[in-house]
Amino acid sequence: MNIPLNPAANAAEIILAYHERTKHRLERYAAGPETLDWSEQPNPFREFSGAARVLLPLGAEKIATPFADIYESGNGAAASLDIDSVGALLQLSMALNAWKEYGPDRWALRCNPSSGNLHPTEAYVLARAVPGIEDGVHHYISRDHSLEQRCKLAGASKPGEPQLWIGLSSIHWREAWKYGERAFRYCQLDVGHAIGALRYAAGTLGWSLQMAEGLSSAEIAALLGLDRNDDYSGGAEREAPDLILRIVTGPSVTPLSRTDTGFAADHLAGWSGRANVLNRRHMYKWPVIDEASVATRKTNPVVEPNYRGNFPGIGAGSPEPAAKVILNRRSAQGFDRTARMGSGTFYHMIDRLLARHVAPWDIWTYAPRIHPIFFIHRVDGLEPGLYILVRNPEAEMKLRQATHQEFAWKRPEHVPPQLNFFQLLPTDCTKVARTVHCHQAIASDSCFALGMLAEFEDLVRAEPWRYKQLHWEAGLIGQVLYLEAETLGFRGTGIGCYFDDAIHEILGLKDTAFASLYHFTVGLPLVDTRITTLPPYEHREIPGSSPETDSDARAAQKGAETMSEEATFERVGVDFAQKLMAGGEALVLDMRDPTSYENGHIEGAEHVTEANIFNFLSGTPKDKPVLIYCYHGNASQVYAKTFADFRFKKVYSLDGGYEGWKKSSGN
Ligand SMILES: Cc1cc2nc3c(=O)[nH]c(=O)nc-3n(C[C@H](O)[C@H](O)[C@H](O)COP(=O)(O)O)c2cc1C
Repeated sequence: MNIPLNPAANAAEIILAYHERTKHRLERYAAGPETLDWSEQPNPFREFSGAARVLLPLGAEKIATPFADIYESGNGAAASLDIDSVGALLQLSMALNAWKEYGPDRWALRCNPSSGNLHPTEAYVLARAVPGIEDGVHHYISRDHSLEQRCKLAGASKPGEPQLWIGLSSIHWREAWKYGERAFRYCQLDVGHAIGALRYAAGTLGWSLQMAEGLSSAEIAALLGLDRNDDYSGGAEREAPDLILRIVTGPSVTPLSRTDTGFAADHLAGWSGRANVLNRRHMYKWPVIDEASVATRKTNPVVEPNYRGNFPGIGAGSPEPAAKVILNRRSAQGFDRTARMGSGTFYHMIDRLLARHVAPWDIWTYAPRIHPIFFIHRVDGLEPGLYILVRNPEAEMKLRQATHQEFAWKRPEHVPPQLNFFQLLPTDCTKVARTVHCHQAIASDSCFALGMLAEFEDLVRAEPWRYKQLHWEAGLIGQVLYLEAETLGFRGTGIGCYFDDAIHEILGLKDTAFASLYHFTVGLPLVDTRITTLPPYEHREIPGSSPETDSDARAAQKGAETMSEEATFERVGVDFAQKLMAGGEALVLDMRDPTSYENGHIEGAEHVTEANIFNFLSGTPKDKPVLIYCYHGNASQVYAKTFADFRFKKVYSLDGGYEGWKKSSGN
């Protein structure tokens, strides 16, 4: 890639041209692959072979914080920073929350949504003095809910308050593989969703988050190790730096300066790990994505003054445990087109989009620059038609001037006073909504759909990196709607596929002062009962509580398929196991349920459970041979993989399991 960086004027032209050419149009979609080979879908899980791993604890589902409390920071004690709370933070934001199965297909879903479920966003943890986590930079693997240590901190760890930052990066190829040139936009929207997911997750622990605004893209890349060419050699897809967030366990502090990460890149040392290749073959290349990425690098960060809107306090929210809401969040794939939404529900939902200094907007210190345009279909008390929510009153005049002069700009009756919400045009807009959203029925069968109209050209021209920032704001709005809809008995879906200029024409926009960057739809979901839902981390659980099933075997298979080159184990038969045990050195682990273990086990075998697996992983010398068995030899492969991931050198899974052992040894 040989793309000159800036000057800003040049970068602005590049990114504005990128936006223009990646518009979907009624007559032609933005350039993308002509055919898709699904067997070539990029690996959704990045990992760094050779990096030491630590499994993060699960159990965030037990956190009882009511959803409403997330909006009321200070309503309850903040959790202390340690490996358990970091595990919970990531489990409720970037982790898997289900596996889905339909016919022979099986796919993972996560707490954070993603365009096409392709998940380009990677998360990093930067830890200092956090109990249970080594000081340094760690990459998060959602597949296993584990951290792999990319680097340490030079010198002895200074004692002091635990500190934690989360870094986000994007692997553009994951989206480009399917969506071609428009993919860069989707990656940014996904980052916005991830910011929201992290902010809500932090709220369940009584924490908040701050954007480390003063960092340039190059500084972020250096901190996360994204600029280490050798670690990505051999064709591993590169990651673009996005942002770093600081976890605040105490009261909110003023915006961070560039040194506030406490992680100046020159203190990082002893990097390890090599990125995996997600796709051996890239059938298509989309160089405009690299250009867009370079053009939107933050080169000269300026900390913007905090925006303080003048809004009344927030009203009551859902008492449901937030963890439950987050873990159940899903995109609707179809809606009941007879369902209606009460106006109270609707206003409650859009009230949460106001940039009050409470979650999640306390993370967003910038002025709100996105103003949703609604296609209202079935909301009680609101005539069907086009509406607008002006999130920053200062933008109202410009919006009035830029849009159709015939628009009514009428405040509906009973609209709560804090909402700058206006009716623009009464009309049945179901058909048009469907058409302009790439003919998707989710935009017309819902109670309402919306487009996120951004203050666009001036901002991007002045500072091209704000192209990304605008998409993050849109993604964050989307995340609020996803979770709010979930608490209110409805469901949402992000919509990245829409005809840009057709929307602009509906609004009467004549230039690029405003642009619609993301769409969304909310209604009563229809659930596809043919799809089976499976728990997210079955492959990590000790199969004590349930006997093996086919899905254990599939989980085992999946684990084996995604093994990195160095993290291997061996499947062995009874003869090999007997010889190994005769040597007297091996650690033999029985992973079955407690009763089965008590009724009979291989002599000398220890019983391993979820509660004590960490003791074995951390307290056993890495060169000690480990033999693992279960009932029939399926699930033990997944656990053997875990030991191998932890750099155990001789890991064996007993084929045939305890049943096979009993038969062969004549018991
Ligand atoms: C940025 C973005 C754009 C999306 N665009 C569409 C879309 O145009 N149509 C659609 O049906 N779903 C869309 N989705 C929903 C995703 O397909 C969905 O998030 C993904 O399949 C994962 O499922 P989950 O949200 O249930 O975890 C979008 C999601 C995001 C985050």
